[in-house]
Amino acid sequence: MKVQVIYQTLSGHSRKVAEALALPFNVLAKPFSQYVNQETDLLFIGGGIYAGKLNKKFEIFLNSLSNKNIKKVVIFTTSASDKSAFEQIKAIFLKNNIEVADSSFTCRGRFLFMNWHNPNKEDLTKATEFAKTFI
Ligand SMILES: Cc1cc2nc3c(=O)[nH]c(=O)nc-3n(C[C@H](O)[C@H](O)[C@H](O)COP(=O)(O)O)c2cc1C
Repeated sequence: MKVQVIYQTLSGHSRKVAEALALPFNVLAKPFSQYVNQETDLLFIGGGIYAGKLNKKFEIFLNSLSNKNIKKVVIFTTSASDKSAFEQIKAIFLKNNIEVADSSFTCRGRFLFMNWHNPNKEDLTKATEFAKTFI
């Protein structure tokens, strides 16, 4: 199974989660600028949310993806609150006819005085366990 793990990050939280998701597949988690447009069975993809929105460059990147090479995406997000970027990311994939996995992964990310220690070791262990469900 060909797997890619791609993230958008400003402060590193989503990179940590991406690395934890990549572990069971023995692949390197990469920033979205390093996405390789090749046949991919499973694309783990995600990032943070900023003032309620996706990072603009990431949004443009997401819109550039096509279902020709991607069989299914698994969305992951990090956010300071309950509102993550999940719905915004999912809407782009559905619009572009890319299959989205039923399950997704989310965890808290530090912001100002909130979630001082997240993502923590437990969050990252949960991310790895979540990824294993796709093996
Ligand atoms: C400028 C800025 C704006 C943010 N706005 C929100 C927000 O609207 N809602 C929220 O839940 N988290 C917000 N956050 C928190 C981030 O989504 C959270 O820290 C996330 O883990 C960041 O991911 P990253 O470290 O991969 O960039 C914001 C963070 C920053 C730096």
